[in-house]
Amino acid sequence: MTSSDMEYLTIALPKGKLFTPAAALLGKLGCTAEGLSENSRKLVISNEVEKIRFIITKTADLPTYVEYGAADIGIIGKDVLLEESKDVYELLDLKFGYCRMVVAVPQALKQEKLSDYAHMRVATKYPNIAERYFHSMGIQTEIIKLNGSIELGPMVGLAEIIVDLVETGRTLKENQLVEVAQIHPATARLIANRVSFKMKFPRIEKLVEDIKSLLESEAGK
Ligand code: PRP
Repeated sequence: MTSSDMEYLTIALPKGKLFTPAAALLGKLGCTAEGLSENSRKLVISNEVEKIRFIITKTADLPTYVEYGAADIGIIGKDVLLEESKDVYELLDLKFGYCRMVVAVPQALKQEKLSDYAHMRVATKYPNIAERYFHSMGIQTEIIKLNGSIELGPMVGLAEIIVDLVETGRTLKENQLVEVAQIHPATARLIANRVSFKMKFPRIEKLVEDIKSLLESEAGK
């Protein structure tokens, strides 16, 4: 770590649904920077007074930036952590961004039991989670990795099943899909690089404590 790296706390934020609540939470603690916005063309935004650097990453890549120490800490969904299995510390459940990873199928293909879906094709953005889940259930399936708009898979005959995140349930409903099993719930987490956590312990620990107090006071409202 260079002395400039030591001086700054680099925070990774993901583009997408978690960006706004994550930036708002940190902002309440004065942890922000001028021009910090999801749509910013600048991908590194610094606060020279507080010595904070924000980097904005693609959601799935965020744990990689933290694992390699390109960011000291980051905010990311538990779903991505479970999919990516990176070597990072998970410091805190931030209790926002609540959603569920589920198995869903078109209404017309709904079976009595999960094992009736054996040998069917599963479209998902989360191939590792889907693979582990069906393997743990002893059900053999073919996993097809997609990068988004998963619901399209069953509509056009690419797959019979999907494994995807559900937040409000609107997307499933609008595409005539029904949930047949829940794999796990997910919320946003604060994660840290292992070396940064030791080298910048006082700073990271203070931020963790400040976030905890803020979450507690907001929960009590
Ligand atoms: C996520 C997820 C579902 C949708 C669920 O997709 O993959 O498609 O949100 O939300 P809902 O239950 O509130 O309808 P996202 O918008 O992140 O984009 P994607 O389809 O490109 O993955």
